[in-house]
Amino acid sequence: MRLQLATWQEVEAYLQRSTGIIMPIGSTEQHGPNGLVGTDAICPEAIAWALGERHDVLIGPTQNLGMAQHHLAFPGTVSLRPSTLIEVLRDTVSSLAHHGFTHVFFLNGHGGNIATVNAAFAEILSERSLSERSLGGQPNGDLQLTLFNWFMGRRGREIAKELYGDAEGGHATPSEVSLSWAAYPEAVKEAAMSPHVAPEGSAQCDALTFRKRFPDGRMGSAPSLACVEHGQRFLEAGVEDALEAYRAFLS
Ligand code: NI
Repeated sequence: MRLQLATWQEVEAYLQRSTGIIMPIGSTEQHGPNGLVGTDAICPEAIAWALGERHDVLIGPTQNLGMAQHHLAFPGTVSLRPSTLIEVLRDTVSSLAHHGFTHVFFLNGHGGNIATVNAAFAEILSERSLSERSLGGQPNGDLQLTLFNWFMGRRGREIAKELYGDAEGGHATPSEVSLSWAAYPEAVKEAAMSPHVAPEGSAQCDALTFRKRFPDGRMGSAPSLACVEHGQRFLEAGVEDALEAYRAFLS
């Protein structure tokens, strides 16, 4: 069930059955010559929506904006600074906890979000700890937070290795481009790319340096290998990987 397509009564009834929710989180950033700007949000969203159709799991609204400052020298990238994203996540989780959700599972599509999401978790949990017993207040209810990166899932990794080997790379990867195309086949792009496999390097830099290091936006990848059929395999693998992680998180 998708939160955006549910009524408040349906959410209330769901909370009687489960207090867990999956929240897709991504980014709006360049993904090389043939990758969609929405790739990092589309991928976890597609996995979450498929999972939510097949299983009784509530899927929250996608956080489409992430921490993507290093991509800002490419048109179309929209980035939140870490402090802003922490505040957004804090209010998001507080809202969910207010309704009785106890297990919030962030399904992430962007490596650049990982440090900030973990900092947000530390911020949220600190706030709760500092306001409860030690300060004489009432203990807060149980709240569990976790981050799962779809692109690190075991099944998906195995398929990427089999299909692309070292040409998978680190950004604008053929696996994520394939998955986004499986979700939106009408948005498949053709683009010439040279060299076939992009140079590797660090993304720990500002936007202008990033563009100099990675002129067409790719990092170590060959997304010309991407196709819709591969994307359908990544979608199925992603649902299995995410479901396994979600069930382990709840238990
Ligand atoms: Ni990406």
